Amino acid sequence: MATGLGIIFCILFVSSSFALDEKKATNPADELVAIVNTNRTAHKSSSLTNNPGLACIALQYIKAYQGKCDEVGGPDAKKPADSEFAETFAPNCGVEVATLAPITGRVLGCQSKYVKPDKAFADILTMRNRSLSIIRNTTHTEIGAAVTGSDGGGPYFWCLLFSNGKSNSSFVLEGGAAKITRPGCFSGANDECSGAYGRSEHLSVFTIFAQVFVAVCFTIWV
Ligand SMILES: *[C@@H]1O[C@H](CO)[C@@H](O)[C@H](O)[C@H]1NC(C)=O
Ligand SMILES: *[C@@H]1O[C@H](CO)[C@@H](O)[C@H](O)[C@H]1NC(C)=O
Ligand SMILES: *[C@@H]1O[C@H](CO)[C@@H](O)[C@H](O)[C@H]1NC(C)=O
Ligand SMILES: *[C@@H]1O[C@H](CO)[C@@H](O)[C@H](O)[C@H]1NC(C)=O
Repeated sequence: MATGLGIIFCILFVSSSFALDEKKATNPADELVAIVNTNRTAHKSSSLTNNPGLACIALQYIKAYQGKCDEVGGPDAKKPADSEFAETFAPNCGVEVATLAPITGRVLGCQSKYVKPDKAFADILTMRNRSLSIIRNTTHTEIGAAVTGSDGGGPYFWCLLFSNGKSNSSFVLEGGAAKITRPGCFSGANDECSGAYGRSEHLSVFTIFAQVFVAVCFTIWV
């Protein structure tokens, strides 16, 4: 009996904490954009427009790596071909190809463990001074951010794309709304997204051994 009650309380507790999590859920990509803008304005650069078309492209950019963290940085670093923006990324998002504007900066990070956006910003994205100078570059006018795990689990990729396009005439979405594709979250679409958290955060006790081997890769391309 006592065990039965204990189990019921346990289930109630677990389900209520899931419910609370759901209410608190925001979008980690939007949080990252807010962090970048706070950091920019603190260093006398302008606040950037959060462009959902550009952000959706950032998520496609991540997906081009097919979960391969080792291709993000280090000796095997790869970078999607520029032609992919018009041929693959924009069509996948419903971004009108004619409205693609120059990419003036990109910052990409990957690690096996999910971290909160502020930690991702501090540890992954600004690990090198060069990425910080890209983040604060005054040429940019717009930003798009994305985060994803592969199939809802790690490794977790974070991507920031910057552009100097005009905010309401670049990366224009057909029908005015981005195609929401899961898994993964991107900024600017006013949607809640916690897909990147996956199950690993709730079941971290069970995955802790896997996470001891935390790999961090990052790369930056102008
Ligand atoms: C800012 O970005 C532009 C475009 O990528 C680049 O040409 C310029 O050198 C950058 N400026 C600084 C100070 O890094
Ligand atoms: C901006 O970010 C850098 C790198 O994480 C950090 O060192 C700096 O303190 C931040 N600036 C502000 C005002 O938060
Ligand atoms: C980054 O810049 C600061 C000051 O500009 C310098 O003290 C620090 O050594 C630099 N770090 C790296 C990794 O280059
Ligand atoms: C773009 O934004 C400007 C200022 O925010 C506005 O005056 C203009 O009408 C907008 N253009 C379109 C096509 O929405």
